[in-house]
Amino acid sequence: MAQLWGGRFTKETDKLVYNFNASISFDQKFYEQDIRGSKAHVKMLAKQGILTEEERDKILEGLEGILADVKAGRLAITSEYEDIHSFVEANLIDRIGDPGKKLHTGRSRNDQVALDMKLYVRDEIDAIDQEVKALLEALQKIMEENVHTYMPGFTHLQKAQPVTLAHHVGAYFEMFRRDRGRLFDIRRRMNTCPLGAGALAGTTYPLDREYTARLLDFDEPTRNSMDSVSDRDYVIELLSALSTIMMHLSRFSEEIILWNSNEYRFVEIDDAYSTGSSIMPQKKNPDIAELVRGKTGRVYGALMSILTTMKGIPLAYNKDMQEDKELTFDAIDTVKGCLALFTGMVSTMQFNKANMEASAKNGFTNATDAADYLVNHGVPFRDAHGIVGQLVLKCIDRGISLDELSLEEYKEISPVFEQDIYEAISMKTCVEKRITLGAPGPDVMEKVIAGNKKYLEEN
Ligand code: ARG
Repeated sequence: MAQLWGGRFTKETDKLVYNFNASISFDQKFYEQDIRGSKAHVKMLAKQGILTEEERDKILEGLEGILADVKAGRLAITSEYEDIHSFVEANLIDRIGDPGKKLHTGRSRNDQVALDMKLYVRDEIDAIDQEVKALLEALQKIMEENVHTYMPGFTHLQKAQPVTLAHHVGAYFEMFRRDRGRLFDIRRRMNTCPLGAGALAGTTYPLDREYTARLLDFDEPTRNSMDSVSDRDYVIELLSALSTIMMHLSRFSEEIILWNSNEYRFVEIDDAYSTGSSIMPQKKNPDIAELVRGKTGRVYGALMSILTTMKGIPLAYNKDMQEDKELTFDAIDTVKGCLALFTGMVSTMQFNKANMEASAKNGFTNATDAADYLVNHGVPFRDAHGIVGQLVLKCIDRGISLDELSLEEYKEISPVFEQDIYEAISMKTCVEKRITLGAPGPDVMEKVIAGNKKYLEEN
């Protein structure tokens, strides 16, 4: 348990204290980023004449060897080191001797960990973005195939007006597209390099921070060294964006669970994404959708947790901030897992189009259109609303739908009705007459779908 900072201490750290303090069990996740950062740092030190070229080459070779060995499973990251930074440095010194001791020149673990976390989060933002894109592609396919698939649209979970499956799924397309936008914004805002901030006050070495930033694909170095080592805003922003993604996945999951129920039968989830019951042989449960809905709570929890952790921390670095890692890693892994499974589930799901259409027909979803028919014949809307209300009551009494009433029955309530009422309230008319941008009418839907296609090709 030799520590980087043992010099000033006369007693061995108590084992419990050591374990409580150590972060190697989780920060080993970013060994690759830690080594990437060290390589850039060393290149910059040599460029500035702080290290010789020979020392630089030895260190780079050593770091690459460690990376290759860890990747190949030849070198295990063990709890004998306090954190990933100590692990890499100790192994480097073991391998190349004295030059290894110069790696940490002009650097603190505070700016090092700030860098590693940023590199890790940035890589993961890119990976999550690709998962969201794959989901959008799956949704786009469903939309393309279902411009004419009628289904009820709901408000208050009551059948409201007919829409199409393309239109309904298109609503989720918009949500996940905005989610990608949020990830993009965060990535852009966080893309500044903290390396060179030192412990909190910069260093007296003539570091070239612009150069290091460029080597690591940052837009520029950070502008305040105290902020650099204590900024976790981007983690909070990411967890907020991830919470929103989960919220969207959870809403969609909830609908799929409803649609998959015996009462709706709008969809059938593929066997590969369902499970059975140990006691009830007839069951096919939507467990994946339920788990996605359930895991949402845990990602929200991570956001609340880091917000609370950060709120009382004086400048600059404090050990509290080590708490950002486990919950961020867990949230990232949870979201990636949920996105991949959800995409698999929706792209293999069967839609029972006949049931959807029948359901749209049976819930008076065309009542607004019946009222609009009257309005088009000069009846004020409020009166039309009342007339159709009476018709609906009549239908409920007899257990039929509006298009099953005879023309005489229509005329009993209002003489304005003529034979063309049937066409005016047909499902086809109800949907296809809704032609404003954003509505389910097929022509305008096709335009939106074409726009989506272009967006997916370009982003
Ligand atoms: N494990 C620490 C963290 O995750 C690394 C930084 C430690 N710095 C320090 N001064 N103890 O935040």
